[in-house]
Amino acid sequence: MEPVDDPGPTTAQRYRTFAEIEAATSATYAEWAMGVAGDSLLIELIDELPVPKRQVNLVFAAARAAGAAVGGYPEFREWMLDHWPAVRRIARARSTQTNEAARCAVILPLLAALPQPIALIEVGASAGLCLYPDRYSYRYGDRELHPVDGPSEVLLAPKVTGNVPVPDRMPTITWRAGIDINPLDVNDPDDMAWLEALVWPEHDERRRRLSSAISLAQQDPPRIVRSDAVAGVRALADEAPEDATLVIFHSAVLAYFSTEERETFARLMAELPGHWISNEGQSITPLVQERLSRQPRDPSLFVVALDGNPVAFAGGHGQSLEWID
Ligand SMILES: C[S@@+](CC[C@H](N)C(=O)[O-])C[C@H]1O[C@@H](n2cnc3c(N)ncnc32)[C@H](O)[C@@H]1O
Repeated sequence: MEPVDDPGPTTAQRYRTFAEIEAATSATYAEWAMGVAGDSLLIELIDELPVPKRQVNLVFAAARAAGAAVGGYPEFREWMLDHWPAVRRIARARSTQTNEAARCAVILPLLAALPQPIALIEVGASAGLCLYPDRYSYRYGDRELHPVDGPSEVLLAPKVTGNVPVPDRMPTITWRAGIDINPLDVNDPDDMAWLEALVWPEHDERRRRLSSAISLAQQDPPRIVRSDAVAGVRALADEAPEDATLVIFHSAVLAYFSTEERETFARLMAELPGHWISNEGQSITPLVQERLSRQPRDPSLFVVALDGNPVAFAGGHGQSLEWID
């Protein structure tokens, strides 16, 4: 994810940096990105897009949504040259809205420790798959936790380090709603195909989890208000029932805000009643970062915070959870 106020490296530099950083995460995307970085013809095409739309993730997901097969760079290049208008159209129309249910595993211990029941608001909810933390099953080391009506098809099992306060009981969520500048609809096949295209080629487990989480959400589709978060979150918070603890949370969202919007948003969170849970990249939440008692071993880890106070480091897709003692 690239912040909206990124100072602006060239497209080739962006693709090369992506290839270097993500080589271990996706061999296919690393090869494509390195290929693009040294390919003036493809760079020229990608530069037809507005700067925020030149993002590696977005362009590659658009290509796969348009039918690009996973394979080597020479085939990908040829395919892109033949199908660029379709890729350009999708990249212009869509944005990176990866919705990862596994991120629920990093907020669940905090949710369960707050006074119950809970009224849950997710800011930047995408399709709302993180609005169902009480409907997924969890495994933290040798401890398991299941929804009240039995194990879920979606099992979230982050690699845990430190004294994660594994809850004995699921949180009781009596009201839930999301807010997103561009909500995706779990019952819209095009929206769901886009979510699938956003999952990187080698990430089969994530693709399976996405499909199960979508099926679960389709049984009780989430309410997601279409609005900018800063403009709309107060009104949504006003709707929450007073007999529940209001929790406003967000995960992998603030990178899309300008620095000024992040500051305004943090002030809003401090003003609103209830609690604020954030799960964001370290550079994205300076207030939280300032309060860290120690640095994580991996700078790409997200910081999970309650009311602005860091409590854990988490893998960007919820794949790991390291509690800060
Ligand atoms: C990477 S997705 C994360 C989705 C979800 N929180 C998760 O963790 O799976 C970021 C979401 O934030 C939304 N978003 C970005 N800027 C926003 C804004 N200013 N107001 C509301 N939502 C925004 C995007 O539309 C997108 O759905």
